[in-house]
Amino acid sequence: MAEEATIHRGLDGVVVDSTRISKVMPEINSLVYFGYPVQELAEHCCFEEVAWLLWHGELPNAQQLAAFQADGRSRRHLSKELLTVIQKTPRTAHPMDLLRTGVSFLGMEDPAPHKEDAATNLDRSMSMLAKIPIMLGSFYRVRKGLEIVPPRSDLSFAQNFFHICLGKVPPPEVVRAFEASLILYAEHGFNASTFTARVVVSTLSDIYSGVTAGIGSLKGPLHGGANEEVMRMLLNIAEPAHARDWMLAALREKRKIMGFGHRVYKKGDSRCPTMLKYARQMADLTGQKKWLEMCDILADTMIKEKGIYPNLDFYSGPAYYLMGIDIDMFTPIFVMARVTGWTAHIIEQLADNRLIRPLSHYTGPAERRVVPLAKRG
Ligand code: COA
Repeated sequence: MAEEATIHRGLDGVVVDSTRISKVMPEINSLVYFGYPVQELAEHCCFEEVAWLLWHGELPNAQQLAAFQADGRSRRHLSKELLTVIQKTPRTAHPMDLLRTGVSFLGMEDPAPHKEDAATNLDRSMSMLAKIPIMLGSFYRVRKGLEIVPPRSDLSFAQNFFHICLGKVPPPEVVRAFEASLILYAEHGFNASTFTARVVVSTLSDIYSGVTAGIGSLKGPLHGGANEEVMRMLLNIAEPAHARDWMLAALREKRKIMGFGHRVYKKGDSRCPTMLKYARQMADLTGQKKWLEMCDILADTMIKEKGIYPNLDFYSGPAYYLMGIDIDMFTPIFVMARVTGWTAHIIEQLADNRLIRPLSHYTGPAERRVVPLAKRG
């Protein structure tokens, strides 16, 4: 059977299961969460509304949203043991590694680790969503030798993140742009990290293991790590006047350019226009226009030369930079948002589970006999 197998490297084009959560439509450049276009959600909703949508399949009414927000705000604290872990984490560690350990630690602190029903998993998802930003904000301060800023329960999810990192809440335009990025990042079908999370729980492992594995998968520069690499690339290019030549040289040398290309979208990423709009607003607000000027030149050159389009990370990277956020926090911010999608998928997987276990085509040596050690030359 293996000899005749058709191999889909990277599972390219393979439909492995169905989902109600989101649909990516590359042919019309669109993405919907439970039927709602992501661009509309980014324009009209707060991030907590979208989290509710991903977990309940409908947008909340005002009462449901208020109760959901109050619940989330009441969970914005970490145990003193987890705070000690954060304080003892090497300051040079990448915050993605801190999150990978932190979420795993939450799993060990779970008071009822053997409960596996959907309601318990939803409750755990709520706690992860509330606590991941606190882990990040605490580490952000600790590694700079600053006091940890306690979370505030009168602030929204997005506002509180700035408060615990920077000790202040920026102007509403900045919070709005950040919130829109979280909504755009929240969910995206069977991407690598979501699929990883589903594979892990398909063995009936626990939700924390699924999310921890998702974080590990997202960290790679071919996936979530790209938003950080985009900003490092822009800093390296330094000036718009160098951008075209830089791109042409990179293409000649057959280098992978971060922030371009996508497994599913081949004619542009549905999330880019919204993210670009907010990135431009950040450039206008700060007066730092050169980063997006560079982006424009790089995108034009890449599209003309190779027909490859920018993806969401190409614009979220400079947008976060313009918001004053450290570069190595960009992918962890993606986690803050995508944990909603991961946990929605984990709960969906477990509701009708079948072990995910593909086949492989063997290309090793033909069958042979074991020669005992004493007789091996
Ligand atoms: N820079 C340069 N060339 C690229 C490219 C990029 N960012 N993305 C794709 N290509 C090239 C590939 O090398 C390939 O060229 P070849 O046919 O000469 O070998 C061709 O375009 C087709 O690639 P494709 O099969 O569509 O890529 P993929 O589906 O296997 O990979 C990504 C998709 C996302 C992994 C890939 O585009 C990439 O590495 N992008 C950069 C990282 C990034 O931004 N990741 C975030 C994704 S949201």
